[in-house]
Amino acid sequence: MADPVLEVRGLTRRFGNFTAVSDLSFEIQPGEIFGFLGPNGAGKSTTIRMLCGVLAPSAGKARALGRDLFTEADQVRAHMGYMSQKSSLLTDLTVAENLHFFGGLYGLEGQRLTTEVEFRLREMQVWDDRDLLVSALSTGERQRVALAAATLHRPEILFLDEPTSGVDPLRRRLFWEAMDELVAEGMSILVTTHNLGEADQCDRLAFILGGKLMAYGRPRTLKEALLRQVIELRTERFRALQIAARSQPEVLAAELLGRSVRLSLPGDLEPAGLLARLRQDGYVFEAQPPEPPSLEDLFVDLVQRSRTA
Ligand SMILES: Nc1ncnc2c1ncn2[C@@H]1O[C@H](COP(=O)(O)OP(=O)(O)O)[C@@H](O)[C@H]1O
Ligand SMILES: [Mg+2]
Repeated sequence: MADPVLEVRGLTRRFGNFTAVSDLSFEIQPGEIFGFLGPNGAGKSTTIRMLCGVLAPSAGKARALGRDLFTEADQVRAHMGYMSQKSSLLTDLTVAENLHFFGGLYGLEGQRLTTEVEFRLREMQVWDDRDLLVSALSTGERQRVALAAATLHRPEILFLDEPTSGVDPLRRRLFWEAMDELVAEGMSILVTTHNLGEADQCDRLAFILGGKLMAYGRPRTLKEALLRQVIELRTERFRALQIAARSQPEVLAAELLGRSVRLSLPGDLEPAGLLARLRQDGYVFEAQPPEPPSLEDLFVDLVQRSRTA
């Protein structure tokens, strides 16, 4: 396997007594879309901010592109791009003016700057918006302009912090297509999200919760590694059945999905006894055969486990 473009070991950040990021280790391979997944407050932005040099770590090491990210920052930063959670675009400038401004900050000028700006505007499918004020754009368009701004200097590693939050599904897809183009150009991307559909599109994932790494690997491997089965019970009285199911000892989780209750059970459990018991208690339902868990199931499971731990 090639050398990782980014290697993080024991990364930790404390704010006073509070540990926001705790002993995080992972690596990103060249050309990979690496997903950083976790609920609000998990520590995703804090991690990215340390890796981008905005925030000093309390402990830990990181290497990027063969250099120490914290002691040789100047040599590495020029090869990194960062799109922060809050858009840094200037809303009272046009799209093209923004890109010229940010390109200038990266040291681009003259014909090179003009060429890069035009290239990114077209690639991000915002060419037709170039003379509009950023304030007039929808969130989806704005985020693709921000992605253009973060990549004008052709970085090798790109950090995207919740780039599609608040973006509608159609434009979300456009954003992911744009990311695929960047990967095809040779970039490696770390993207944070709490959207589980997006997580499925990543090459590899790190789930974080309470600043800790809970699971790490390919989406499919993570799902297969999950020793659980999911059974869907269709019923009229879904709320009552959910409550009844949750009081059964072998039920790991019981979540509502439309008019069904999704039960997560240990992988080696024969569910017939449990279903018979619920029916004896007067619940009427139709049980769908077990199916492979979704990432959402995994996520619910991880959160549940960390609560009981
Ligand atoms: N500058 C700060 N001072 C104190 N606490 C902070 C600071 N920045 C973040 N935190 C806390 O660290 C935790 C992780 O935050 P963050 O990294 O923003 O999470 P996420 O991006 O996953 O939603 C949160 O509990 C947040 O309140
Ligand atoms: Mg965040």
